[in-house]
Amino acid sequence: MSHGPEEIALAIARLRAGGLVAFPTETVYGLGADAFSVPAVRRVFEIKGRPEHNPLIVHVSGPEMGASVVSSWPREAQRLAEAFWPGPLSLVLPASSRVPREVTAGAGTVAVRAPGHPLTLALIEAFGLPLVGPSANRSGGVSPTRAEHVRAEFNEADVLVLDGGPCRGGIESTVLWLADEPWRVLRPGLVSVSAIEGVLGRPVAGPVAPGEGAPADAMTGALPGPGLMARHYAPRTPASISDRTQIAAAGADTVAIVMSPDATSGGARLIRLPTDAPGYARGLYDALRSADDLGAARLLIEWPPRGRPPAEADLWCAIYDRLGRATR
Ligand code: TXA
Ligand code: MG
Repeated sequence: MSHGPEEIALAIARLRAGGLVAFPTETVYGLGADAFSVPAVRRVFEIKGRPEHNPLIVHVSGPEMGASVVSSWPREAQRLAEAFWPGPLSLVLPASSRVPREVTAGAGTVAVRAPGHPLTLALIEAFGLPLVGPSANRSGGVSPTRAEHVRAEFNEADVLVLDGGPCRGGIESTVLWLADEPWRVLRPGLVSVSAIEGVLGRPVAGPVAPGEGAPADAMTGALPGPGLMARHYAPRTPASISDRTQIAAAGADTVAIVMSPDATSGGARLIRLPTDAPGYARGLYDALRSADDLGAARLLIEWPPRGRPPAEADLWCAIYDRLGRATR
């Protein structure tokens, strides 16, 4: 793991030269670039193979820098930032004119968050400017939760990787639309809808389930959120949702991700995940990548049984969202 000031100095030199630096966060690794440099931002789209109409999250050191990338910073944004930042909540607000249209995908709004990892906060503070940070994987694939996942996707000459260890959260931030009413969750994530409602003191609309997607913005073609890209977060191995009976009967051409401690299989190779939502979320993407590495013909994923503790309900929703997209 690399931590010291030398690492940060190298990363800053790379960013100042318009280069890319992958950084750890509490959710997944981000592919960082100077958010105000059009060539650097274009390079992010190019190297990820990301469609131009999918906007990027801007990572800031805190509310003050957050307010500098938006055209207005409402009281509710301040309250949410105080409650959840640094942390896994991205707020979508009208963008300041300083933010390149490449970042906002022409939609006029920008998603902003302060990431909860000391190394990356130190990086942003030392750089003094916000960083774009999509997940550090090729578009449509599984987000990286370890430095080695990033290294497996990109060449070190193209992307300098800051190794901050495995990500604690394991799935992406909650994306909350605050640009106009109704406020709504565009992507469920590690911050629960009920926790957001608790801070705002009013309800917000929930996320759209995969496949249910609302139409893209008719004027700009921009997507209001990732909920529209049904196939996303997907492993290379054809994957489907399954149950213990099917997994028990599967053959040696199959790999299965299971969570029931007593799940068994005659032939399939099993990858086990914990039964609690935080543990499951933390291990999920690593499990999907391990499944790909085994080169099996198909991947079966045991659908987490219902009847989980109510306190974990929102996090299971975010997990179901990712499982739904991984298996489309
Ligand atoms: O946890 C995370 O959010 C990670 C870490 C690195 O911060 N980042 C991440 O970025 O997941 P990405 O690009 O893989 O996903 C961000 C999603 C995109 O799918 C995009 O559609 C949505 O957030 N988004 C970004 N800007 C938006 C905007 N202005 N309006 C609506 N949705 C936006
Ligand atoms: Mg992504």
